[in-house]
Amino acid sequence: MKFTEYFSLFSLVQAFCVFISIFFVYGTYDGKKQNEKHSRHKWYASLFDGPKPVPYFGNSLNFILHPESIALMLMFYTQKYGSKYRLWIGQKLSIVISDASDAKTILIGNKFTSKGDDFHDLFGRVFKTGTFSDQGESWKKSRKILQQPFKSILLHNYIDTMNEEARKIVKELQPKAHNPEMFDVSDFVGTATFNIACKTLFDLKEPVSKETHYIFRKAAEEFETDSFNLMFYPKLIRNIKQLFAKKKLNHIFNIMELPYRKVILEGKLKVKRDKKNDEQVDKKLIDYLKSDVFSDEEKKAQIMTYSVGGSETLVISISLTLLILAIYHEIQDKVVDELKHIFNDDDRDTTVDDIKQMHYLEQVLKEVMRLFPLAPFLFRTAKEDVILGNHTIPSGTEFIINVPALHNNPTNFPNPDTFDPEHFSAERCRVLPKGSYLPFAIGPRNCIGKAFAMYEMKIVCSAILRKYRLHSIITKEDIKVKYSFVLDSIEGYNISLSERK
Ligand SMILES: *[C@@H]1O[C@H](CO)[C@@H](O)[C@H](O)[C@H]1NC(C)=O
Ligand SMILES: *[C@@H]1O[C@H](CO)[C@@H](O)[C@H](O)[C@H]1NC(C)=O
Repeated sequence: MKFTEYFSLFSLVQAFCVFISIFFVYGTYDGKKQNEKHSRHKWYASLFDGPKPVPYFGNSLNFILHPESIALMLMFYTQKYGSKYRLWIGQKLSIVISDASDAKTILIGNKFTSKGDDFHDLFGRVFKTGTFSDQGESWKKSRKILQQPFKSILLHNYIDTMNEEARKIVKELQPKAHNPEMFDVSDFVGTATFNIACKTLFDLKEPVSKETHYIFRKAAEEFETDSFNLMFYPKLIRNIKQLFAKKKLNHIFNIMELPYRKVILEGKLKVKRDKKNDEQVDKKLIDYLKSDVFSDEEKKAQIMTYSVGGSETLVISISLTLLILAIYHEIQDKVVDELKHIFNDDDRDTTVDDIKQMHYLEQVLKEVMRLFPLAPFLFRTAKEDVILGNHTIPSGTEFIINVPALHNNPTNFPNPDTFDPEHFSAERCRVLPKGSYLPFAIGPRNCIGKAFAMYEMKIVCSAILRKYRLHSIITKEDIKVKYSFVLDSIEGYNISLSERK
């Protein structure tokens, strides 16, 4: 990537800026208070290194011109300006962090339960008051209630469904085992993760077809990329851009409502007033949502949030793991040895005890999520001033945590470019500083479904590995990923299979 190219564009665009900034500065002037805040931020920002801002746009011009490279630019700036640098997105001050101890301070503190107004506005376009994009008291309330069904002690409730869907994939893959041609394994994994989410979280009976899920997945992906890009636009330009995209957004919104429509169709939100129901202990997410605490609008928002959150990242992590194991046969063999030891070649379902014994597979999954962090950038906004190291950072500043940079720190992960499950051996895990490894974030806004995800990854991957040997013709370096809010492989997840004897 030639960054000099971006900078040469600057001079051209600068003349244009001067003209336009006069117009915009006038247009966005909203009161004295805003200006005071801005000059305070400006003073603090001067203590940090970072790319040179231009009037009105700050540093956002490069992002607007090259939306496909936003993530790469953020990473490039980390290399250039160090583990704490500032960025001006229009009038908004952002600090990009890639230091474990700072990341820990930001993620764990109760000052940081907000992801910021921009995040709230943009992701809220679809997820509204869902746990993922909501903030303030309303977020606190729903988070407290909705983390109940994800408690590890209740996860055994989901195992049957996970096993059932895993068995289905294994069966569907059968014809592929007699065909040397490559195929994209995520097409198979995707429908399963979606159906697992719909069945375990919402108690839906009717599964969706591959085709329907494919459309859902594409819509979710498009929405997520669009929201991430717009985070790096000044507010006014973002609003103008959104105005023109309203129709498209409504279309996406409509597709993403699919699970909600199914929930309504199957009558899952209807409250049955019998005693047995109240005493039921093994409640699913949907049972908590039935509560009067949530308005209809909130129920819909939560269902949309959890159907995407509970499936779309899992497709990627499971497919990536299978692809990586197809590349590294020695590691694949080691995983299979562990599985042989656990299952003794019996083709029974996976139990909670089995899951707990899959230590090496867990190391592999952790290493996959280290090299390919599913959520590469974490956003938090401080409600109060914060002290990080020797710096005071004013309230209202947005923090962006650069997870790939943290995961590539050679102090914590020797030879960070190498895929090596030993990075997560028991000894190494013990000495890993908090904040240095963030596959599911940490603190009050961490991933609510972390344990659920781990169960599902282990069940699906182990079921496929017990039956098939995985092959690939590429190397790890050939895997090209795109980073936006969620990481994804650009060229899919091509593998081939042969039957294990
Ligand atoms: C994946 O495999 C299919 C079928 O063999 C092929 O058409 C496609 O080009 C492959 N994709 C990549 C990125 O190699
Ligand atoms: C903070 O400042 C002190 C004194 O200037 C310096 O010795 C120390 O290294 C600084 N710490 C950090 C984390 O920058």
